[in-house]
Amino acid sequence: MNQDDLKRAAAHAALDYVPDDSLVGVGTGSTVNFFIEALGTRKHRIAGAVSSSEASTARLKAVGIPVFDLNGVNELPVYIDGADEITQGLAMIKGGGGALTREKIVAAVADKFVCIADEKKRVSLLGKFPLPLEVIPMARSYVAREVVRLSGQPVLREGFTTDNGNLILDIHNLQILDPIELETRLSAITGVVMCGLFARRPADILILATANGVEITRR
Ligand code: 5RP
Repeated sequence: MNQDDLKRAAAHAALDYVPDDSLVGVGTGSTVNFFIEALGTRKHRIAGAVSSSEASTARLKAVGIPVFDLNGVNELPVYIDGADEITQGLAMIKGGGGALTREKIVAAVADKFVCIADEKKRVSLLGKFPLPLEVIPMARSYVAREVVRLSGQPVLREGFTTDNGNLILDIHNLQILDPIELETRLSAITGVVMCGLFARRPADILILATANGVEITRR
């Protein structure tokens, strides 16, 4: 099985967590793209989707799933999304695709966060994957200096603008021993729109596809 096969397996297993006649929160990324494909096959059983990016919105519409504005949604039973790294405690680094802000917002509204991932994403310590921060463009240099004070090495994601018109700083060389504390500190820097650590609100369920089958972890 290659990595795409594993992503597909995790994505298909996530269908079991999608209730009939409800809205589904949909994340962003290559693993989620397999999920959107699978969700398309049962589009008549769901009410529609709330999306975390323009890219996912386009894919959802392409398979015939209506996409709703989050502002009109009071109840969202489940949010399905991938991760760049995930720990045993289900804290994550997200934002490799740059959609972290909308992802965190949709996840905040959802009752349950189901993470779909292949085994390469499982880590014992977060931080090998550079941690994305979405920043307001005029605050870029200030935020970068503040990150250096916290011993991180910020690198501007060249040529990339988020769906919200902002920039991404990827922070290298972090050993994240206390993800909740770091998320709180980074989120508090003026000019940071969102931090790609998902530790204060981790996933509730991890569907991890491995060479030996799909493993489910519940928090
Ligand atoms: C996008 C994300 C994705 O969930 C994360 O990057 C994982 O992507 P993939 O499934 O392509 O490995 O946070 O902003």
